[in-house]
Amino acid sequence: MAINIAIDGPSASGKSTVAKQLCQKLGYVHLDTGAMYRCVALYFLRTGLDINDEDKLKKALKDIKIDLTGDGKVYLNGQDVSQEIRTDRISQQASIVSANRFVREHLVTMQQKMAEKKGFIMDGRDIGTVVLPEAELKIYLTASSKARAMRRYLENKERGIESNLVQLQNEIAERDYRDMHRKISPLKKADDAILIDSSNLNKDEVVAEIMKLITEKI
Ligand code: DC
Repeated sequence: MAINIAIDGPSASGKSTVAKQLCQKLGYVHLDTGAMYRCVALYFLRTGLDINDEDKLKKALKDIKIDLTGDGKVYLNGQDVSQEIRTDRISQQASIVSANRFVREHLVTMQQKMAEKKGFIMDGRDIGTVVLPEAELKIYLTASSKARAMRRYLENKERGIESNLVQLQNEIAERDYRDMHRKISPLKKADDAILIDSSNLNKDEVVAEIMKLITEKI
């Protein structure tokens, strides 16, 4: 029997990587909701939209079409933006636009429609608390900001991008603060979510731990 799985947690805690691997093992569909907020941030940046202008904002949201494909590609109005949405600038902007009530309502409705059937692993900040409160398994995946900054640093290095570890850690702390303290749907662990701290675990160990929990549920 297929179930729905919610994985929430702060930025760079490894949610997407782990969700992808679990989907491969289970034949489930991965929905990276952070990518959707990133698309909205990119669209607003490109169009120079003032998010305080409610009428323009609501209209702009209707003009945004987001497609997440099974192979992990992200399309914004038909254009492949998979790489472009991963820059540090978009990370910061996505964290800012995600505090907006209309943006959240719009994307949450889309996400709930996408996961009407079972067999989804959705990762984000409010999946267990707001988007899929009935998910059969909820994970709250976290790690120290130091460990997360180090992972980002190494990922960047692998991609040939030079970065500053202290700056990365500061940016992560800034996003954590914003995501956890916004008025609407702040990042927090759902009461029934299982906490996994991956500061001292590698990817495979986290995947194995969650697989164990999924097997118990299924
Ligand atoms: O998971 P991510 O780093 O790609 O997410 C980018 C931003 O989007 C993050 O700073 C907070 C926001 N976000 C959110 O508010 N709710 C979600 N379900 C997913 C992401």
